[in-house]
Amino acid sequence: MRLCTAICAALLGATAASAFAAIDSTAATDILQKNNCLACHAVDAPLVGPSYRAVAKKYAGDSTATDKLFHKVRDGGTGVWGQVGMPPNAQISDADLQSVIAWILAGPPEH
Ligand code: HEC
Repeated sequence: MRLCTAICAALLGATAASAFAAIDSTAATDILQKNNCLACHAVDAPLVGPSYRAVAKKYAGDSTATDKLFHKVRDGGTGVWGQVGMPPNAQISDADLQSVIAWILAGPPEH
């Protein structure tokens, strides 16, 4: 996994127009779990909220997505994916939130 951090960072850098440090799936899952995101989201299937792969697809090529989603997850909101809203997520650190959003937008890998 340490090796992946270096290699994946290079691969992600080629596809994701993101200024944030790339993290591997183990680190991302860790952050998502710690902050309760996985109670409402899965990588490849909609739960309460959209799957992270659907999010990656929706915002592919949108250079404002990182910033937009950072504030959306931080403040919560509704109406993009349906009637169900996401509550604000105040507990997650800025660095962790930036990292997982970069990971989501890069397109979470198959498991
Ligand atoms: C209580 C359930 C819940 C939790 C907890 C939750 N979400 Fe969500 N999330 C949602 C719902 C519902 C939506 C769809 C909102 C909408 O349609 O605008 C959403 C949308 C999103 C989106 C897409 C936003 C958009 O506007 O397209 C991202 C990215 C996201 N969540 C990431 C996260 C992350 C990261 C966490 C953890 C810090 C998290 N979510 C925690 C329910 C949740």
